[in-house]
Amino acid sequence: MSSIRQLPSSLLGLVSLGAWLPAALTLVVLLLPGGWPGASTVYAKNGMVVTRSLHASEAGVAMMRQGGNAIDAMVAASFALAVTHPAAGNIGGGGFMVIRLADGTVATNDHREMAPSGATRDMFLDETGKFVRERSLLSHLASGVPGSVAGLLAIHERYGRLSRKQVLERAILLAEKGFVVGYPLSRSLKRMEERFQAHPASRIKFLDDEGNAPEFGDVFRQPDLAATLGRIAEEGKDGFYRGKTAQLIAKEMAENGGLITVEDLAAYKSVWREPVRVSYRGYEVIAMGPPSSGGVLLGFMLQALQPQDLASLGPGSAQALHLMTEIERRAFADRSKHLGDPDFYPVPTSRLLSPEYVTMRMNDFDPEHASVSSELLPGVFEVQQESAETTHLSALDRDGNAVSYTTTLNGGYGSGIVVAGAGFLLNNEMDDFSAKPGEPNMFGLVGGEANAIEPSKRMLSSMTPTIVLNNGQPFLVTGSPGGPTIITTVYQIITNVMDHDMALYDAVARARCHHQWLPDSLVCEPDALSADTIRELERMGHPPIAPYRRGKIGDAHSILVQEGVMQGVADPRNDGVAVGL
Ligand code: DON
Repeated sequence: MSSIRQLPSSLLGLVSLGAWLPAALTLVVLLLPGGWPGASTVYAKNGMVVTRSLHASEAGVAMMRQGGNAIDAMVAASFALAVTHPAAGNIGGGGFMVIRLADGTVATNDHREMAPSGATRDMFLDETGKFVRERSLLSHLASGVPGSVAGLLAIHERYGRLSRKQVLERAILLAEKGFVVGYPLSRSLKRMEERFQAHPASRIKFLDDEGNAPEFGDVFRQPDLAATLGRIAEEGKDGFYRGKTAQLIAKEMAENGGLITVEDLAAYKSVWREPVRVSYRGYEVIAMGPPSSGGVLLGFMLQALQPQDLASLGPGSAQALHLMTEIERRAFADRSKHLGDPDFYPVPTSRLLSPEYVTMRMNDFDPEHASVSSELLPGVFEVQQESAETTHLSALDRDGNAVSYTTTLNGGYGSGIVVAGAGFLLNNEMDDFSAKPGEPNMFGLVGGEANAIEPSKRMLSSMTPTIVLNNGQPFLVTGSPGGPTIITTVYQIITNVMDHDMALYDAVARARCHHQWLPDSLVCEPDALSADTIRELERMGHPPIAPYRRGKIGDAHSILVQEGVMQGVADPRNDGVAVGL
């Protein structure tokens, strides 16, 4: 093992594949015509999968090699990610998938978590009415009924070509035989040691007898997770939502003050939703509708930008940033009031996206002066200790089937609680509800009635998996983690490509900024703005530009098609990998 520890993490990944795959397959990976996986841009003609983990990207492309399509690839990659990227890859959380098939079919699947039937509006308030953040983030009450397995299986059943066992095989092998832990994962697990210590099953899954998480170069095996994935492969949805897995989840909950019951699990369904579709500069943008706010806000923001000549302002100029910020401010203000689960609240999607409304909303835009968000919160953005994590995957096959998928446990490693005997982490998505009007969630987002907690309701999301078409053909597949910054990340990537004509790598790598109405503050990655740009923005009346509290904004694994060639870009902010075929 010590020699393995000398290798860079991308090589470690390959070595670990070699540990259980035939050597020939590892060679295939090494000899990819598109070049070395992990190169800044990977080029391919026959298929592309870009995810946070080499194992997951490779599991996806392996499906295409076996005759599967982009849907098989995405489902296999997602299950693999549940093994190799435990911070956000998951079967204990939820997500949204946008699909555009080669025949023109567009479908969006909502498998967002649902509040358990026993949830109540004030469940995160104490006797004095004060919000208790630990409950919505770190307790058994923090979890919504998981949706990932139901969604992935429904999507696969409808659009996949391969068998369920085929798409789960890689994930099961990775969990059973283990994989070599790369450096970024080892560091991330190390930071979680104390939290894992607090829960017996989390301890068993992640820590050794001395309380240490797996180190760089160690082989990490997850036998309980392998067994759970095996039940899903054998029994389909029932392998998770009924029978042994469901009983283990319900027991975990009942013994620790949680609410999810076997009935809640049996009742869970993913939902096919209406996509959001808007045109921007002659391209068609397809994104996720409610209960994600992502598509509606992205659609609003792109339409508000349409009449403006962003290209002539230049990327990163004070004028461009001012314009984009003012649009973001208005979009997020509307989010706080109008967006929630459409099954519970009449979300005015078409009104928010209508050209008349967008024009009216921008009437008070002043190109020279910042507006002031109407209310400021008592206290600023609460600094959050644990890193948050979501993950985005993009896939495209040779026939032109495109899939954009964002999935999450909410916070990094969700609630930190593993279901005893079932080997997977539970989400802490309940924090995405508005626990109390005006009370910011962990992303500083505020909301009210539309996103109040109700039994069996889905909490509002910002996830924005997106597919852009050019002349009816897939052009860009993108999306990101980052809570509310997801929406503005996708917005910036689209404008970088379409307005500023950047290559995909530059569009993804470029430093990002974000504004979300409240708190009234433009936050940016370090080095996003020059000193004179900052001075100019402040002269326009923007409050002091703040560094983004978590440093990096987003992790946008993306695919772009140009001249019939697929370009895969893993966001350089993290250790994602594009694999081409
Ligand atoms: O659905 C949402 O909007 C959040 N739960 C996403 C969380 C997230 O992106 C954290 N990642 N950095």
